[in-house]
Amino acid sequence: MAVEGRSVRVVARPIIEPFRIKVVEPIRMTTTVERHAYLNAAHCNLFAVRAEDVIIDLLTDSGTGAMSAEQWAAIMRGDESYAGASSFFRFEEVMRALTNVPFVFPTHQGRAAERILCATVPLRGRIVVSNGLFDTTRANIEASGATGIDLPVRDAGVFGGNIDLDALGARLARGNVAMLVMTVTNNTVGGRPVSLENLREAATRARAAGAMVVLDACRFAENAWRIHVNDPERLTLREIVHAMFATCDVFTMSAKKDGIVNVGGALGVRDETLAEQIRVELVRTEGFPTYGGLAGRDLEAMARGLEEVLDPSYLAYRQAAADYLASALARSGWPIFATASHAVYIDAGAALEHLAPRELPGQSLVCALYLSGGIRACEIGELMFPGGDGKQLVRLALPRRVYTQSHIDYVAAVGHDVAKVRASLPAMRIVRAPEKLRHFTAELAPLTPFPDFE
Ligand code: F0G
Repeated sequence: MAVEGRSVRVVARPIIEPFRIKVVEPIRMTTTVERHAYLNAAHCNLFAVRAEDVIIDLLTDSGTGAMSAEQWAAIMRGDESYAGASSFFRFEEVMRALTNVPFVFPTHQGRAAERILCATVPLRGRIVVSNGLFDTTRANIEASGATGIDLPVRDAGVFGGNIDLDALGARLARGNVAMLVMTVTNNTVGGRPVSLENLREAATRARAAGAMVVLDACRFAENAWRIHVNDPERLTLREIVHAMFATCDVFTMSAKKDGIVNVGGALGVRDETLAEQIRVELVRTEGFPTYGGLAGRDLEAMARGLEEVLDPSYLAYRQAAADYLASALARSGWPIFATASHAVYIDAGAALEHLAPRELPGQSLVCALYLSGGIRACEIGELMFPGGDGKQLVRLALPRRVYTQSHIDYVAAVGHDVAKVRASLPAMRIVRAPEKLRHFTAELAPLTPFPDFE
């Protein structure tokens, strides 16, 4: 490249974190000996470890993001009036501009939106089909007497989050389907994205069969980004978001993900009669429809976060961070099941092949990552879903705008050290566990001691 007659060498430049840091939160460094004690006290369940005893917390990307200066400023503008607060109208305006869905209600988080939807749509004895129902969505559907069926595509291409259209067609033909729930991105299959074509075709077929089309939109921006980078010429990011929401009759949203807030959610519907029923249910269980279980300041932060999340440099950095971590782990020999925008999924079943699913290879790896480097990750396998599909995964979820590249380098280095001893990681057994949602509170123990990590 020539500039005023001089040549300039072009080097590949890193994608940087597109923010600088104004407020910091100290990380307390711990030793392996201390972590052994913490893990023992927590009965090898990372949900029972105190956050201050964690060095890098990759348990979830939900509600763990860092708010911007503008979001904090918006917090001060929060209107805490019981009814008709200006914060609600700002929230409503942003939501409508984003989705073109006319009736939008705030809820305290995603699962509250799901519960209210399931309480207002008659579901008893009916079927709900999906590309992948998140656990709370499935639990709400089943609690209202319906059956949830996941029909993800089998081949994991670029849009491995898609629904299997043939299987959907066959299920719709058998009748009794009340709802189609499309989850973007598809968290239950490794956070893979869903294509616009798949959303449209699935919605058209479901609607023709008389089913309501619901979008679980918590990672809508990350899904839109994956569509955008796959075909950057076609549509702008905002057009893609519009097109995604155009496929649905109803959306539920946990704003704790792409809303980049610590708490909040939304429920949006096009149908006025349904909106009326939702208002009643909202008043009964969440709050008046202009605050829906949140403070006015939360609505302000959400409105601002939903705008910021569509900054292309933010979404590019977010994906780059996940890709960077995934390639570093792969270089250390870890089999990567999927790389989402929000997480990297290690195939612990394949990596710890000396352990059968009932020996909980995922949980063994989760404990090893904690012992070696104070990293908190989450098992998605036999512990979380007993007798599930056999996949034994460990999810390293990335909170939004929280960790820098050197934090990720640290995670990669810990991953590298654990890889060296992965063949000797012990089988785990469950000492005590409740019948349902056992992974949150189960007590576990290794059958043999963990290797020394220092
Ligand atoms: N839908 C999806 C796809 C989710 O991933 C989640 C939450 C929810 C709905 C529920 O939203 O937590 O605000 O009530 N997922 C978190 C996770 C907990 O770690 O993946 P919520």
